[in-house]
Amino acid sequence: IAAAASGAFAQDFPAGKPITIVVPFAAGGPTDRVARDLAEAMRKPLDGVSIVVDNTAGAGSTIGNAKVARAKNDGYTLLLTHVGMATTPVLYRKLPYNYETDFEYLGMINDVPMTVIGKPQLEANNFKELRDWIGKNSGKVNLGNAGIGSASHLCGLLLQSELKAEMTTVPYKGTAPAIADLLGGQIDLLCDQTTNTTSQIEAKKVKPYAVTTLKRLTTPALKDIPTADESGLKGFQVTIWHGLYAPKGTPPAVLKKINDALKVALKDPDFIKKEEGLGAVVVTDKRVEPAEHKKFVQAEVARFGPVIKAAGVYAD
Ligand code: MLT
Repeated sequence: IAAAASGAFAQDFPAGKPITIVVPFAAGGPTDRVARDLAEAMRKPLDGVSIVVDNTAGAGSTIGNAKVARAKNDGYTLLLTHVGMATTPVLYRKLPYNYETDFEYLGMINDVPMTVIGKPQLEANNFKELRDWIGKNSGKVNLGNAGIGSASHLCGLLLQSELKAEMTTVPYKGTAPAIADLLGGQIDLLCDQTTNTTSQIEAKKVKPYAVTTLKRLTTPALKDIPTADESGLKGFQVTIWHGLYAPKGTPPAVLKKINDALKVALKDPDFIKKEEGLGAVVVTDKRVEPAEHKKFVQAEVARFGPVIKAAGVYAD
């Protein structure tokens, strides 16, 4: 009877009950931005149900990830996170969850470029001057990030190893608070996703030095920013992917309903327009399929392993 009941329950999911999407970073940041825009686009295909975002930040996203791994597997608590799903298994040797066995993979959402930005008072006016300034101030440069395991942490790691520079990293619960301190001049540099930096760059409130894609971006506010590659960091590329997850054991019929709604949302012109306006690219390939999503994350874990081991940065 239980199986039948869960079958029946799964059929009329979400039955008008609100769905929570946990975002493992502070409100107002890039991960939060993607979650709120996606929630808006998924409401209609999920029978108009309300979808709320729960920002459970801390420890480079691992606190929010763990919360969903332990949540009821009924489809009403989901996780939206990014590349951190693949960096944290390498960075944290004792994680309160297993990224492969504690989650159901619901499909990927987008790829977001990053920008290297400086506080408005920074004297450097281009990447070359920035590189010289960092060299002259080695050890004294304050680089913000959203904790070990965050996208900004990963980008900062790669930047420091490319520039052979030592910077003091200042962790925040997300890059929303980090960018607030950058605007105030409390930190000097931040490597953050265009979903968070586009508006600040447009308003000329921060100094953009480079984008982390191999080709320049086409978004009007970002198209004149040189790539790190053309600025001398040959091949330097960091794009941040986002995916959707549910706790292990969520009924297959529920998973299918959510993945179907995700596919509708990714084709929603309003969602696509919002993403493109922020420099992001919506997934249009097979990574929207759960099995492909999981394979992709497993490959990313294998890719980041050596990079992080070489950097010798572990969270615990
Ligand atoms: C990150 O750096 O991982 C994210 O941008 C943090 C956030 O979404 O606030």
